[in-house]
Amino acid sequence: MAKRPVEVRVHVAWPPFPIRVIFSRLDRNPLTMSTVSSSDSAPQQATTDPYFQQLFADRIGGAKYGKGTEIYKFEKIKRAKRKALSDHPERKLLDFGIGENDSMAAESVREVMSREIDLPENRGYADNGVIEFKEAAARLMQRRFGVTLDPVDQINHCIGSKPAYAMLPACFINPGDVTLMTVPGYPVAGTHTRFYGGEVYRLPLVKEHGFLPDLDSVPDEIYDRAKLLVLNYPNSPTGRTAPPEFYERVVALAKEKRFVVVQDAAHAMLTFDGPPRSFLQTPGAIDVGVEVHSMSKGYDMIGWRMGWVCGHRTIVSAFADVKDNSDSGQFIAIQKAAAAALDDDSIPQAINAKYRRRMTKLVEVLRGCGFDCEMPGGTYFLYTRAPSGTAAGETFAKAEDATRYLIEQNGIVTVPWDDAGAYLRFSVTYVADDEAAEDELMVETRQRLESAGLVF
Ligand SMILES: Cc1ncc(COP(=O)(O)O)c(C=O)c1O
Repeated sequence: MAKRPVEVRVHVAWPPFPIRVIFSRLDRNPLTMSTVSSSDSAPQQATTDPYFQQLFADRIGGAKYGKGTEIYKFEKIKRAKRKALSDHPERKLLDFGIGENDSMAAESVREVMSREIDLPENRGYADNGVIEFKEAAARLMQRRFGVTLDPVDQINHCIGSKPAYAMLPACFINPGDVTLMTVPGYPVAGTHTRFYGGEVYRLPLVKEHGFLPDLDSVPDEIYDRAKLLVLNYPNSPTGRTAPPEFYERVVALAKEKRFVVVQDAAHAMLTFDGPPRSFLQTPGAIDVGVEVHSMSKGYDMIGWRMGWVCGHRTIVSAFADVKDNSDSGQFIAIQKAAAAALDDDSIPQAINAKYRRRMTKLVEVLRGCGFDCEMPGGTYFLYTRAPSGTAAGETFAKAEDATRYLIEQNGIVTVPWDDAGAYLRFSVTYVADDEAAEDELMVETRQRLESAGLVF
């Protein structure tokens, strides 16, 4: 059954950009129209804008591209860190803001890489990937999750999982179509949905609903247009994992409402409340979607850029077609090193153990300082309600205020999330050479938080 007729969407939403660009050139750049003619050196307009300022696509801001005054969250954090360091050069920043693994890839993986890099057969375009990697991914899916996949056409590599979220909307989204996305969350699929003229319907993740989206709250009008549901468990930033019953409900709903499920498994190996789980373990899941895996978090291979999309063969094939038109594949030596990593379960197990240990310590410290938090089900993020102020009379209207205060006054870096309540994200990817260094850092964190006198 087709979703809403495509023609209607075309008339409603497309082509808005070309029409607006034509008018905006006339409206915003009259000087260009009248004076730029014969000479390259003629003034194009009253400002110092290059001529192509008027040419930027509306999806990135049109002629206003690069002129926004809004300061983004991570830039604000950077500025607060600079201020904290200049106000208190003697005080070490305790950085719980970093969202990247703090260790290099395992030595065994780097050894494979150093061998493979010298082999002439690895030098060329990798296109949609080498079979060695696909087979290793298939073995992992079978061994760890009991999910049987054909490596040939049910698995395709990606250059890190981020580009997969940029490409999957290209497979499904026409103007006016909807992607259901959880917030807070990893936004890339939503951004690209909008790039294709689609809309994003936000599903808030709130504590009262166990940080699972309330799929029954989505209006039928939205389900009629929804083509993608993007999930992410273990969830970044909430740390929540999804129980099998939730996935079962998702599969049933996908069939009933006819949408495709994209499950982001970037943090799968960092599951603490049981063995790592896959959405594809759910009966019927293979009929409704794909799961996207990453080598970044669970294998300390963030910068290596490897991941894979797996699941329904037609969706994997559509993804591979879009990918083939976007890149020429990851360097084969990296694919082979990643395959070696996938065959060695001791690698993700050691990484899991390290972050689990660090998380356990952090939860204890934060609870002792008044935070209402518990051990997350997974990820290296602890997501906890932000303080509302300090006993000394400071008030925080938003998590962002609390973050700035903690950085500037206490030298403690967190990331604020204000999308669905005011929350702080503490990451346990801080740099510490050994367990003794971790313990020292925890002692210091406790002292500083106690002296902050936070109220909730
Ligand atoms: C939830 C989630 N999904 C996907 C990604 C992308 O990971 P990568 O592109 O390194 O595979 C990240 C990275 O931060 C993430 O946090």
